[in-house]
Amino acid sequence: MTAEFKRVIVAVLGMLFLASLLVVAYKEVKREHKPGERPKPVVAADSKECVDCHQKTSPGIVLQWQDSKHALRGIGCLTCHAADAKDVDAFEHHGVKIATIVSPLDCSKCHPTEFKQQAASRHAEAASFVGSADNFLGEVVEGGPTPTLGCEACHGTTVKVLPSGKLDPATWPNGGMGRINPDGSKGSCAACHYRHDFSLAIARGPDTCGKCHTGPDHPQLEVYNESKHGVRFRELHDQMNLTAQPWVVGRDYHAAPTCATCHMSATPTQPVNHDPGMRIAWTLRPIISTRQKDWEQKRDDMMDVCQQCHSESWAKNYFTQYDAFVAHYNTKFAAPAQLIMDGLRKAGKLTGIQFDEAIEFTFFELWHHEGRRARHGAAMMAPDFVQWKGMYEVAKNFYTRLVPEAEKLLPGVTRTALQGEGHRWLQGGK
Ligand code: HEC
Ligand code: HEC
Ligand code: HEC
Ligand code: HEC
Ligand code: HEC
Ligand code: HEC
Ligand code: HEC
Ligand code: HEC
Repeated sequence: MTAEFKRVIVAVLGMLFLASLLVVAYKEVKREHKPGERPKPVVAADSKECVDCHQKTSPGIVLQWQDSKHALRGIGCLTCHAADAKDVDAFEHHGVKIATIVSPLDCSKCHPTEFKQQAASRHAEAASFVGSADNFLGEVVEGGPTPTLGCEACHGTTVKVLPSGKLDPATWPNGGMGRINPDGSKGSCAACHYRHDFSLAIARGPDTCGKCHTGPDHPQLEVYNESKHGVRFRELHDQMNLTAQPWVVGRDYHAAPTCATCHMSATPTQPVNHDPGMRIAWTLRPIISTRQKDWEQKRDDMMDVCQQCHSESWAKNYFTQYDAFVAHYNTKFAAPAQLIMDGLRKAGKLTGIQFDEAIEFTFFELWHHEGRRARHGAAMMAPDFVQWKGMYEVAKNFYTRLVPEAEKLLPGVTRTALQGEGHRWLQGGK
């Protein structure tokens, strides 16, 4: 090997060494947060041991917590996880009594307003679905462990504590909206406030709601994604200012409304509200839609959201179209279908058992899937859900399945139901 060649090798190795130093330094810079941009977390004395040990056993949790406002305000592991004297799920953990579940009641010590609003909302009641047709389907017709991983993953379990103090694995983990906690409180704030960063950006984004508000029977996420609002959210995502506090529509952002914007978040005159039902005038869940209590006020509050980005007549006229649509669905299909089913039941053509006749599935799909899809599409600006995934399916089901199946069970049973104007086309009229 010539001396020249050795010098080249040394130079190349030297350069590689320097480059690797630079890479390491760069990585350090990336890992460190820019000074002033993100203050250091404050580790309270009583949580120091938790942080130190969990940094080794579950580092992800500690890093998420360090990203939270809580960490900056000195709210440590023990502040949230310390067990109350009466907690049935308390257990001894490295010399301290803690509980794994941090319930809405625990959060309420520092966030009483959010707790009160959430507790008064339908969300808090989401686990009370026993007795519904859906429940009979999930628990009996489908059966097995389906409810825990299906229904209850959205609606919530009743969390049970074993004699050992451990949480019953059949009921936890669970993040359902109306989960019934060992302390009796209802819900899980982490259903929207994912731990341990409790990121506001996550809570405000549509996918968070969409974990549950999706699928054939309540496709709010799909509806939103199809709407111009959803398109703008995706394309202009970096203009949404999602971490701002406060986050007032028309002031702190204007690119697009999200689910939270319309149903929960602040306007210049309305504060954030943790009851998402407060701006809803109709309920679209039942067979036949009805007006909510105080619906005029609720409609005004929703219009106030729209008017941060639209004119009054734009919003008002849209709701004129929407209200007419819901009324049309009600009178042309929902009420007649209900009448037909009542006729069959009264004549003893249906047993007392749900879902043992094919027509019961037909009817269920008509209102619970197709009819809801159409109504949700109309409420939230998704034309394909109104039409091809909605009213087309409703009409096809009604005329080619429900009516013929009912006539087969009891000839003549559909006569009264088909007397309405909307069904005159069957006789060749219009
Ligand atoms: C010396 C280590 C150590 C210390 C100190 C410690 N933990 Fe843990 N912790 C663990 C380990 C390991 C587990 C996982 C055990 C398991 O798999 O259930 C755990 C589990 C947990 C759980 C979940 C239990 C469950 O039911 O799944 C919580 C909540 C928790 N720790 C909180 C805390 C808090 C709060 C503190 C401070 C008061 C703390 N830990 C201190 C090691 C520690
Ligand atoms: C603002 C309150 C809050 C703080 C602060 C907090 N936690 Fe939690 N933690 C929760 C909530 C909420 C849950 C979800 C439990 C449930 O409801 O099922 C949870 C769950 C857990 C679990 C069990 C679930 C899992 O994913 O394994 C562990 C372990 C845990 N926390 C450890 C910690 C540690 C360690 C710290 C501190 C670095 C910490 N927590 C700080 C609220 C908090
Ligand atoms: C010991 C008091 C305390 C407890 C308990 C507590 N928090 Fe907080 N929380 C705070 C404080 C303080 C802030 C920061 C407020 C601020 O500076 O804007 C905060 C902020 C928040 C924020 C806003 C986060 C952000 O990035 O701006 C959310 C969301 C939140 N908490 C949810 C929860 C939930 C859910 C629980 C229960 C699992 C909980 N908190 C328990 C005191 C608490
Ligand atoms: C993907 C999440 C998810 C699953 C799984 C799910 N649901 Fe739901 N359920 C919801 C949502 C979201 C609503 C509210 C829809 C709306 O308001 O448009 C709802 C509404 C309901 C309602 C109507 C409540 C009322 O007040 O009118 C009942 C009853 C119900 N679900 C029971 C069940 C049962 C039983 C199962 C299992 C067979 C189940 N759900 C599965 C998310 C889910
Ligand atoms: C249905 C989803 C959802 C649930 C459940 C939920 N939150 Fe929120 N929360 C949000 C959204 C969205 C925001 C952001 C509102 C905004 O600023 O636009 C928020 C904001 C907050 C804030 C920040 C303060 C503020 O007014 O902006 C706190 C604190 C908070 N929530 C606490 C809680 C607590 C405590 C619970 C449980 C009792 C809870 N939340 C349950 C969606 C939810
Ligand atoms: C963990 C599942 C889950 C998540 C996440 C969730 N919801 Fe819900 N939501 C439900 C269920 C279940 C119901 C029906 C409760 C009932 O009627 O019993 C519901 C009902 C509603 C209703 C009807 C309220 C009423 O009073 O009629 C609205 C509006 C709503 N949710 C909006 C939202 C928004 C906005 C978000 C996100 C910020 C969200 N939800 C997140 C499960 C969820
Ligand atoms: C542009 C505003 C807007 C956005 C964005 C929006 N919604 Fe809606 N939502 C509405 C309106 C308006 C209604 C119908 C209100 C009425 O009947 O008066 C509605 C109805 C609903 C209902 C029916 C409640 C019932 O009682 O039947 C649910 C549930 C719901 N929205 C959830 C969501 C979810 C989840 C998202 C995001 C994926 C979302 N919304 C996005 C405005 C919006
Ligand atoms: C944050 C601003 C913002 C809010 C709040 C908002 N919108 Fe929009 N909306 C827009 C923008 C921007 C467009 C796209 C305008 C265009 O067509 O160029 C749009 C489009 C629409 C469209 C047209 C849909 C289509 O397919 O052509 C309707 C209808 C609509 N919005 C109704 C509403 C209603 C009703 C509300 C209140 C429940 C509302 N919007 C709330 C910003 C908003």
